[in-house]
Amino acid sequence: MKELRTQVAIVGAGPAGLLLGHMLHLQGIESVILEHRSREYVEKRVRAGVIEFGIANLLEEVGAGERLRREGLVHRGIELRYDHSAHRIPLSELADGKIYTVYGQQEVVKDLIALRVAQGAPLHFDTEVTAIEDVNTTAPYIDARCGDEDLRVHADFVAGCDGSFGASHRAIPSDVFRRYERVYPFSWLGILAEAPPATEELIYGRHENGFVLYSMRSPTISRLYLGVRPDETLDQWSDEQIWDELAERLSTDERPEVNRGPILERGITAMRSVVIEPMRYGRLFLAGDAAHIVPPTGAKGMNLALGDVRVLAEALDTYYVKNDEALLDAYSATCLERVWRAEEFSNYMTQMLHPNYEDEFENGVQRARLRQATQSREAATVLSRNYVDLNTM
Ligand code: FAD
Ligand code: DHB
Repeated sequence: MKELRTQVAIVGAGPAGLLLGHMLHLQGIESVILEHRSREYVEKRVRAGVIEFGIANLLEEVGAGERLRREGLVHRGIELRYDHSAHRIPLSELADGKIYTVYGQQEVVKDLIALRVAQGAPLHFDTEVTAIEDVNTTAPYIDARCGDEDLRVHADFVAGCDGSFGASHRAIPSDVFRRYERVYPFSWLGILAEAPPATEELIYGRHENGFVLYSMRSPTISRLYLGVRPDETLDQWSDEQIWDELAERLSTDERPEVNRGPILERGITAMRSVVIEPMRYGRLFLAGDAAHIVPPTGAKGMNLALGDVRVLAEALDTYYVKNDEALLDAYSATCLERVWRAEEFSNYMTQMLHPNYEDEFENGVQRARLRQATQSREAATVLSRNYVDLNTM
């Protein structure tokens, strides 16, 4: 067995693990990142696309925002569509001039991997963490497997950044943590298409047939989502059916519908809300999807993950520089306050925009919420602030 020693062992090279490794490097703290998948796989994994104001600033401050500023699309509003009419929410006007940026998650991941590789800092792909041990002592260690080789990493701390299907939360005994969960009765069918977006701003729509979202990645690439029933599979949808359904759900009397083009990627994602409390057990700290999941309707998942890392990197810095554990002790409570705000916002957006196929009372409430969000300046202001900058407010 190969053995390594580091200060912080990081499980997972998603946005959370990679940003943590990078921030620790800037602070002169050594880390080893272990990632189950290949570099190619994580760089191609298409997921989120909306970066909050403060999170984009954070990436820039740590030297990971150069391409984001150059290639990211600056947005100042969103459109809400319901009852076949369009309503713009002027997010920036209502949120102190703040903007948000549309930039794919896998581009953030590529940028962070490039920095890590350029620094020559340890990042092991194709390496699955199988156990995290002794987290209740000052000498925890991780066991991992890379091909035929076993690896053990000894560390002062372990950061569980291994996402919603990860293993790190299993190192916490079930009687010390609580798991809160809500499963929604729908999924999202998402496509990436080679087609110029027919809209300048993101459109979130509630149609009788279901939810719809029009987003983009560049002036030539569109990203669109349809709310579907949880038991639907990709083979039930031909390209033409997907485009027809998108066009129908996005249609209004005066607006363009969609620009069609070859579909480059497609996937179905189930929708859940999960919170694990506490986010720390001994010397194991959970960050990102490993600790909480939001339904994607508020575009909060990646932002929330990077928000956790900001808190954890500072807490570890304070520990190593001043031998002061106060911020580490406060980590879970500090994060959970923000996590529950993001859960509330994601739940609000989800419940407002996904029609309920069975419950007409619920549908009446949803329409009232949409009218309030688009007609009341106070309600639109709350939505705008949460959308544009929830994680660093
Ligand atoms: P992840 O990005 O999941 O990274 C965790 C990493 O850990 C992965 O690379 C994984 O391979 C690795 N790992 C797991 N187990 C192990 C192990 N045992 N050993 C080593 N490595 C391990 N959010 C939005 O806002 N909008 C969206 O449209 C959207 N779409 C999504 C679609 C899908 C299919 C999923 C799963 C999530 C989506 N999200 C979306 C959420 C957003 O992408 C996540 O919140 C974000 O990826 C969280 O980052 P993370 O670093 O915490 O976790
Ligand atoms: C995108 C994803 C989201 O979940 C969202 O709310 C807005 C945009 C996107 O992938 O572009």
